[in-house]
Amino acid sequence: MPIITFANSKGGAGKTTAVLLLATELARRGYRVEVIDADPQNWFSRWFATSGGAVRNIAVTGYVKTEDVLAERMAEARERADYTLVDLPGMMTPLLVRALSLSDHVLIPVQGSAMDAQGAAHVLEVLGWLAEKARLHVPHSVVLSRVNPLVSTRALTVVRALLATRKVHVLDTPIVERAAFRDVFDLGGTLEELDPARVSNLDKARENARAYAHEVLSRVWSREAMAPAEQAAITKSGRAA
Ligand SMILES: Nc1ncnc2c1ncn2[C@@H]1O[C@H](COP(=O)(O)OP(=O)(O)OP(=O)(O)O)[C@@H](O)[C@H]1O
Ligand SMILES: [Mg+2]
Repeated sequence: MPIITFANSKGGAGKTTAVLLLATELARRGYRVEVIDADPQNWFSRWFATSGGAVRNIAVTGYVKTEDVLAERMAEARERADYTLVDLPGMMTPLLVRALSLSDHVLIPVQGSAMDAQGAAHVLEVLGWLAEKARLHVPHSVVLSRVNPLVSTRALTVVRALLATRKVHVLDTPIVERAAFRDVFDLGGTLEELDPARVSNLDKARENARAYAHEVLSRVWSREAMAPAEQAAITKSGRAA
């Protein structure tokens, strides 16, 4: 079942947070989720360990150091899980091309800063190269991350405009800057398990995570975002698009 890879070659763009929010929301809905933690800093695996090494419907695979091991893990996870999420390191890595080429969808978290847009531009270049040289059209979307809930900053407007000129699809739902999204890393567990009395705006954070996951799913299954070969395969197998 689908593999979604999270990529931005600049560190701190919000990849692991975006992985965590999608993984926990899909798990809450009852899907079996497997996360491949391909970041040597192991942030996702650390969250899993902090959560006691057991979160319902979530499995984690770590120690992915080479492209071949990554490809193997992705193929195995595709068989086992309803959704596989791949968390890549925030740097230039040889894992990037392989991960993108084996994905059904690529999500590129972008913070409203120029440096961040550069990391995203690198991922878009690799996707362009795959399409041109290998005729591999991997559907992809940008998700704006760490967005201030109160103001639409100038930097963010610049990023949106830049992406629009490149005809890059941007999710309508941004991931907002919320204390809950930090706390869930520090405390382990899921947003559902945090205490509303101790975490500010927890209801808004949950709502944001649900809307984001909902939009990702509709994007992953939309015909428009799929390569023609995938559309044909899905129509043949009778799976709903
Ligand atoms: N929406 C958010 N609200 C609050 N804090 C956030 C949000 N997104 C990210 N952060 C915080 O910003 C930091 C970087 O985020 P994150 O680890 O998700 O980025 P990353 O792209 O995975 O980084 P790296 O490239 O190092 O793997 C973390 O401390 C995280 O808790
Ligand atoms: Mg990370």
